[in-house]
Amino acid sequence: MKDTPFIYGSTVSNRSFTNREADIAKLQSNLLSGINTTIISPRRWGKSSLVEKVINNIANNEKNIRCVIIDLFSVSNEEEFLEIFAREVIKASSTKWQEWMNSGKDFFHKLIPKLSIGIDPATDFSLSFDWVELKKNSDEVLNLPETIAQKKGVKFIICLDEFQNLAPFRDFLSFEKKLRASWQRHKLVTYCLFGSKRHMMADIFNNPAKPFYRFGDIMILQKIETEKWIRYICKGFEDTGKQIDEETAGIIPRLMKNHSWYIQQLAHYTWNVTQNTATTTEIKAALKELLNANIPLYQNETEGISYTQLNLLKAVAKGETQFTSAAVMQKYLLGTPRNVSKNKSLLINNDIIHEVNNRFEFVDPAFELWFKKQFFNQSFSIEQS
Ligand SMILES: Nc1ncnc2c1ncn2[C@@H]1O[C@H](COP(=O)(O)OP(=O)(O)OP(=O)(O)O)[C@@H](O)[C@H]1O
Ligand SMILES: [Mg+2]
Repeated sequence: MKDTPFIYGSTVSNRSFTNREADIAKLQSNLLSGINTTIISPRRWGKSSLVEKVINNIANNEKNIRCVIIDLFSVSNEEEFLEIFAREVIKASSTKWQEWMNSGKDFFHKLIPKLSIGIDPATDFSLSFDWVELKKNSDEVLNLPETIAQKKGVKFIICLDEFQNLAPFRDFLSFEKKLRASWQRHKLVTYCLFGSKRHMMADIFNNPAKPFYRFGDIMILQKIETEKWIRYICKGFEDTGKQIDEETAGIIPRLMKNHSWYIQQLAHYTWNVTQNTATTTEIKAALKELLNANIPLYQNETEGISYTQLNLLKAVAKGETQFTSAAVMQKYLLGTPRNVSKNKSLLINNDIIHEVNNRFEFVDPAFELWFKKQFFNQSFSIEQS
């Protein structure tokens, strides 16, 4: 049997990547012309995949540019961040590990990095500093890419994923100021900063009182259009010897509201249960499987919120818009207008709901389907268009 053409759960940048031509062109041109760029979108719409795609293009075509992608998901303090940053910049600076080992004397004046290499240099290269010294001389690490770029006559593009993970660090504001002060002076280094906590990212980059305000261009990533998803799904089936017609394929983006991850997941389950030709029967089975697979996640999500927040979510699910009208507050037991406003902010900040065309919607389309079934026994209609 052929491998599934539909991938979810990891970034996609080759075979399963589709569309986003305009986003690719814009990000690529920004990064090549030295414009720092921040990317913001709800979870799992495709930020990391887009960056990976663009960086692969650049790395393959621009021999004079050194590219670095660092995922800050598990970084928990400033010192750790600086060590990872230095290590990855050094690794990107040369293809020869012997040169990495010389970087201490070549690129540092005050700090003395402890460098070591294992059997496989690509994965076993480690770097650490004395943390007391590091705290005093963090500039030297923050300026490292500019220093190397000058000495070697190259440029750097540095992409930091899950950038908002720095925000909970102790003394983040002063560190944030230091980062901004160093990075804005760099002439040979361009930064691409992105992350999955939309509201934390917006607070770092959109708040005039914060150091990173106007650091560069902000790209608000949109969803991929329905027509493009339909073509992508049909082609994925065809390429693997199966079939789905355009009308049937169109059900997938409609159910999943064009959400990248869920379209891939539903398309995969549909593909998997299809012998030859997918029909609504296969999509129904696939949707059931998808919701079942996600039940623990959705249960967690509903258990993690308060009673009045849950009620507000029910009002959103029912398409209400006037949450503070007396009738709505009473019908859904929303508490006082103050409760409503506080709960609304909490649900927004936790990326559970967002405002689209002056209405509130669930951010997660499959969670919404599960929620409606769970609380109102309301089933989704696959046939309706
Ligand atoms: N351009 C694309 N074409 C096809 N599928 C995509 C595309 N971009 C993203 N996806 C799908 O969405 C999933 C999530 O993508 P990705 O991890 O890039 O999103 P993200 O916005 O970085 O998510 P998070 O907010 O969780 O970090 C991928 O695993 C893939 O299934
Ligand atoms: Mg990501």
